[in-house]
Amino acid sequence: MSYAGMTDIDAAAFNRIVDLRSDTVTRPGEGMRRAMAEAEVGDDVYGEDQTVNALEEKVAALLGKEAGLFVASGTQSNLTALLSHCQRGEEYIAGETYHVFAEEAGGASALGGIAAHPLPIDAHGAITPDQVESAIRPDDFHYPVTRLVCLENTMYGHVQPIADQQAIASVARRHGLSVHLDGARLMNAAVALGQPPAAVAACADSVSLCLSKGLGAPVGSVLSGTKDFIARARRIRKMLGGGMRQAGVLAAADLYALENHIDRLADDHANAKRLADGLARCKGLEIEATETNMVFIAPREEDLEPLRAHLAARGIIIAAQRPSTRLVTHLDITAEDIERTIEAFGAFYKG
Ligand SMILES: Cc1ncc(COP(=O)(O)O)c(C=O)c1O
Repeated sequence: MSYAGMTDIDAAAFNRIVDLRSDTVTRPGEGMRRAMAEAEVGDDVYGEDQTVNALEEKVAALLGKEAGLFVASGTQSNLTALLSHCQRGEEYIAGETYHVFAEEAGGASALGGIAAHPLPIDAHGAITPDQVESAIRPDDFHYPVTRLVCLENTMYGHVQPIADQQAIASVARRHGLSVHLDGARLMNAAVALGQPPAAVAACADSVSLCLSKGLGAPVGSVLSGTKDFIARARRIRKMLGGGMRQAGVLAAADLYALENHIDRLADDHANAKRLADGLARCKGLEIEATETNMVFIAPREEDLEPLRAHLAARGIIIAAQRPSTRLVTHLDITAEDIERTIEAFGAFYKG
């Protein structure tokens, strides 16, 4: 995945830049900045930051877990979880494109001596209970010890049905394994399903939720699980250099995001649908819609760079990844931005 982006855009030339690379590009608005400025803070390594404590409790309650731990990023959250679940020489199972395996610089194996057992995913980003069952190692000293199954929801924008997650979790439990859910965008899944977040999280022993993606905060993820698990995770976070001090200025943004930005994810989903429908008219452009805030496009190889430049000249930024490029709607993308994007694509494909 390439994150090339703003370099050839003359931002000053446009009233508005439409940045479709990711839902991480949002900037905190006035209300969120005010909440950050007014946050009550203390030393969180001493457990004295009331705003961080409130955030951890709120996320744990939303996800139906006993306790939460504020961490700097989704990557730190997943790594902390894996190091808390697994010992050296043990193994986790995950889909081969899942972020924890594919996009986190191999942290669990590099820093934790934890082996990965990646499985092929289906077109919807899912792995199946049968695949998991077959991947679990027999008790034989030749093999690593299977300890954990990692799920992801949403996965590439696709919602993983709750019943499917539960079926995998049943296999895991039958074999004495734990389940970690990378719920970086779990709120998108909950809103798309019309289910409470705790229902999406119920399959898992630990859940990582990002506040810095569709929810629009500048920084922060919360790892949640049982009190014992979070106590272990707190030690690992310290080991990873992730203990922060007056972190309430960040946690205040995350609380604000939870209070104000969950329900509006439905707008992002509607914008993504509108975008997918609008782009479907472009001949020669393959489109894959999802149920949430991502649309994948696969332009012909010879079109990719000219398309990116054509859009950039109109103040619209896409990541131009191969083999497909994701377009992501978010808090800073309006319905008018979507119309402008559809028009710009239309002009390219007509020309
Ligand atoms: C599904 C998923 N998990 C984890 C992460 C890691 O989050 P961060 O970039 O905050 O480390 C990402 C980042 O995009 C993600 O998409």
